[in-house]
Amino acid sequence: MSSTSERTHLCPSILSADFAHLEEEVRAVERAGAHAIHLDVMDGHFVPNLTIGPAVVKAVDQITTLPLDVHLMVQEPDRYLEAFRRSGADCISVHVEAVTHLHRTVSRVRELGASPGVAVNPATPIGALADILEYVDFALLMSVNPGFGGQAFIPSVVGKLASLKDVLSQRKMRVRIEVDGGVGLENAANLVRAGANILVAGNAIFGKGDPGANVEELLRTMREAER
Ligand code: DX5
Ligand code: ZN
Repeated sequence: MSSTSERTHLCPSILSADFAHLEEEVRAVERAGAHAIHLDVMDGHFVPNLTIGPAVVKAVDQITTLPLDVHLMVQEPDRYLEAFRRSGADCISVHVEAVTHLHRTVSRVRELGASPGVAVNPATPIGALADILEYVDFALLMSVNPGFGGQAFIPSVVGKLASLKDVLSQRKMRVRIEVDGGVGLENAANLVRAGANILVAGNAIFGKGDPGANVEELLRTMREAER
């Protein structure tokens, strides 16, 4: 059994989905038991890529009843919080590296009625989270350098996950830990055993084969690791 009482959630990232058939792909992962849909917002400044904005979040919200987990990889996310919330974002994470007044930003997310999260790049020490943990519902540990789907998992994040678990248990806090980037069948069990509460997977679900079957297989692996 993992150290958390709750089962680890699986959130497909639509970054690697077929956008020409987004409705079918989202419905397939929902039917297969995914817990939320992860949407990667990139601005071409914080990360070297451009992706989606509030209009696509709104479209996905109309397709699914699953919660929408919106990961903002943008500079000055404060400018867009309201628009994403209005478009249906249930959880909104912002990067510690992209925000100057982090407490103000996460407080605003909560004020808007969404669940706030704070994200950290692979090379950012978890110490950077110390004074914001009590104001967020989840911490998102990037296990690739943000910007693209389909990159290789950076193994040092497993140790970082363990250190963050220790900090949370010492401080008796119930902040959930989300791991995002390069997650797939080869490392999902290990991440569950290390105490991850949410796994994000893009390429492993939408990159090849049938997205629904890929979700089922990942969930089976995760459930086995929890025994
Ligand atoms: C990367 C994104 C991830 C990405 C995960 O910048 O934040 O959510 O979509 O995709 P995979 O699972 O392909 O690494
Ligand atoms: Zn993401």
